[in-house]
Parts: sequence; C-alpha cells; structure tokens
Amino acid sequence: MSSPRKVALVTGATSGIGRAAAKAFAGRGDAVVFSGRREALSDALVAELASEGGDALFAVGDVAKEASPAGTCSDAFDRFFGHDEAAIAAFAEQHALRRIAEPEEVARVVLWLCGPRASFVTGQNVVVDGGLTTR
Ligand SMILES: NC(=O)c1ccc[n+]([C@@H]2O[C@H](COP(=O)([O-])OP(=O)(O)OC[C@H]3O[C@@H](n4cnc5c(N)ncnc54)[C@H](OP(=O)(O)O)[C@@H]3O)[C@@H](O)[C@H]2O)c1
Repeated sequence: MSSPRKVALVTGATSGIGRAAAKAFAGRGDAVVFSGRREALSDALVAELASEGGDALFAVGDVAKEASPAGTCSDAFDRFFGHDEAAIAAFAEQHALRRIAEPEEVARVVLWLCGPRASFVTGQNVVVDGGLTTR
C-alpha cells in the first residue's frame, strides 16, 4: 500500500527561505499550501511549481494577525482533502561560518524535520545558524 500524499504548509513562502522550502517539498512530491501577504508574488511560485509537476495553492494571510497559520490556509487545505501532514517553515540565522545561509541550506533541514528520517523527533527547535550560537 502506498503512503498517502503529504501536504506541506509553508507560512511566509512568497520569497526567501520559505520559498526555497516550498520548492523542496514540491520536489519530493508533496502538495504545497503556502502563505504570505504579497499575493502578487504567489502566482509566479504556483506557476513554477506547476511547470515542474508540483501541486501548489496560495492562501493570502498575515501570521501576525491570524490566530492560526493552519486556519489561514484552511480553504486551501480543503482542496487537498485526504492528505495528512502540515509542515510549517521559515527562518535562518547569521552564523560563525562568516557567510549568510543559502535559503536551500535551511530548506534541507526543514525537509528532514518533516520527513520519515526524523520520525522520533518531536517538539524541537532546530538551530540552523552555522554555529553562531555555540561559539
Ligand atoms: N543569517 C542567515 O544566514 C540568514 C539567511 C537568510 C535569512 N535569514 C533570516 O531569516 C529570515 C527569513 O529570511 P528570508 O531571506 O527568507 O526573508 P524574506 O525573503 O523577506 O522572506 C520572508 C517571508 O516571510 C513572509 N512574511 C513576513 N512577515 C509575514 C507575516 N506577517 N505574515 C505572513 N508572511 C510573512 C514574507 O511574505 P510576505 O511579505 O508576502 O508576507 C516572505 O515570504 C529573516 O529573519 C532573515 O534575516 C538569515
């Protein structure tokens, strides 16, 4: 029996790290629901993911004003009825390697955290800062 398709919810994905995470989730075959305030930027990402065979929906929303990011995207989730996972992504830090992280470097950690290889990891804050906070 094949695994049910997963849905990744990426808040703040109209640009930067969130956008890279949305692309990474789509690249592994997940449907993607992403949010942000800049609706004008969403069409390009939806089109880009669709051109690569991905399935994405945008839900405009401001996480500072909404009680729940998932609630912001509830209509979009309805479109993917039957899928079972929401993943929330964003972030990065400046670090000790004296360079800024590439968005994809953070997206890879997000993908790991939301995948089967992290099956026994719960409730953690994963620091992705190139060692800045451990110096
Ligand atoms: N030091 C490093 O290595 C490093 C590298 C990169 C980034 N960073 C840090 O990581 C963070 C993200 O960086 P980034 O490059 O991904 O920034 P970005 O390109 O500005 O992306 C931020 C995303 O968050 C969304 N967002 C912001 N406020 C929101 C709100 N209230 N509601 C919903 N969406 C919201 C934006 O969408 P809308 O504007 O459409 O709402 C956008 O999609 C920043 O704090 C940055 O300083 C650190």
